[in-house]
Amino acid sequence: MTRHLLITGGAGFIAGNLTHHWTAAHPGDRIVVLDALTYAGNRATIAPLIDFGRISFVHGDIGDRALVDGLLADHAITHVVHLAAESHVDRSITGPGAFLATNVNGTFTLLEAFRAHWLAAGSPTDWRFLHVSTDEVFGSLEPDDPPFCETTAYSPRSPYAASKAASDHLARAWQHTYGLPVLVSNCSNNYGPYHFPEKLIPLTLINILLGRPIPVYGDGSNVRDWLFVEDHCHALDRILLAGEPGRTYCIGGCNEVANLDLVHMLCALMDELAPELPVRPSRELIRFVTDRPGHDQRYAIDASRICEELGWQPQVTVQEGLRRTVQWYLTNRDWWQPLLSAEYASYLESQYAARLA
Ligand code: NAD
Ligand code: DAU
Repeated sequence: MTRHLLITGGAGFIAGNLTHHWTAAHPGDRIVVLDALTYAGNRATIAPLIDFGRISFVHGDIGDRALVDGLLADHAITHVVHLAAESHVDRSITGPGAFLATNVNGTFTLLEAFRAHWLAAGSPTDWRFLHVSTDEVFGSLEPDDPPFCETTAYSPRSPYAASKAASDHLARAWQHTYGLPVLVSNCSNNYGPYHFPEKLIPLTLINILLGRPIPVYGDGSNVRDWLFVEDHCHALDRILLAGEPGRTYCIGGCNEVANLDLVHMLCALMDELAPELPVRPSRELIRFVTDRPGHDQRYAIDASRICEELGWQPQVTVQEGLRRTVQWYLTNRDWWQPLLSAEYASYLESQYAARLA
């Protein structure tokens, strides 16, 4: 079967990387990207693929049912990989509405549209809908707790996490009730190329390059399990092609690092690799700032299921992945410099003015 993929959110960080991965790994497949180009979407991430006709790009909202119905039919879509979302926890705290609209209602619209399309085609058993979600739905771990796995109870604690948890429940319900061939993945913190500079790693790198303060929330002891985005793309590839509908897969990097240690690693890499810096050593830019409300202490993933059932393993250590990420941001200024708009500056101002005072 020739696969016709719809990748939602493909102008964003992970789905952009996935689109590059898929065109290289499966050149016989057809790909349509649907993206609303919110502040987080950047056409430049996939522009070479669009401009050379490797993929089709549709500018639109996953919540627009008529648009989604049309593109599912027109492109004879057989596989949906759903990554479009509002993704930033801090923004969900100051403005949760967009998170409910896209993550909950948008996912509902997509599921319903795909169900109608799938039914009209006679319910093919080899079609797939992969719903990509987060480990944040499981809540927060204490230092000695075992990592999250597929049977961990849901306990979302931020508006973002709650909206993703709701969407996971919808995806599972559509599989259980209607038999739609849905799979769900829950992943830890990604990092790598094309990451929007509001998230800790790209924000730190760009602040170092601009000589701006590096805001570390609270005391910097919060722990995240870092996964290089390329490893995540390989995991999604395995799940889409070999995963069992109805099943959930947890994906993690086996790379737990406290935020302050991570920022120190980034500062050291920048001091080593960046030819010119306004402030050196970079760690002089670190500022401890008011904590994120409800800040989850620790995330970690036990990825045994995907390792054992689908033969996936993370390949990139955090040391190697951070080095590759720093090198990417140093050599791809054309990608990130245009993102430093007035809107971006005003977002940072609203986030950090009070915290840095
Ligand atoms: P991102 O914010 O970089 O990209 C999201 C993309 O979705 C953007 O291109 C944006 O324009 C698009 N989008 C937003 N609303 C839309 C709408 N209504 N219709 C169509 N497109 C819309 O996000 P990301 O960090 O790449 O995350 C992708 C997915 O992976 C999300 O579902 C997120 O919850 C999940 N996830 C992310 C991480 C992570 O560490 N980044 C970890 C686990 C899971
Ligand atoms: O765990 C998966 C999740 O990882 C994804 O579902 C989210 O979409 C993604 O944004 C990410 O969420 P986090 O909140 O963990 O990522 P963020 O980069 O915003 O923050 C990482 C840690 O760094 C977190 O403990 C908060 C802290 N932080 C963040 C920023 C932006 C700081 O200390 N300073 C900062 O300026």
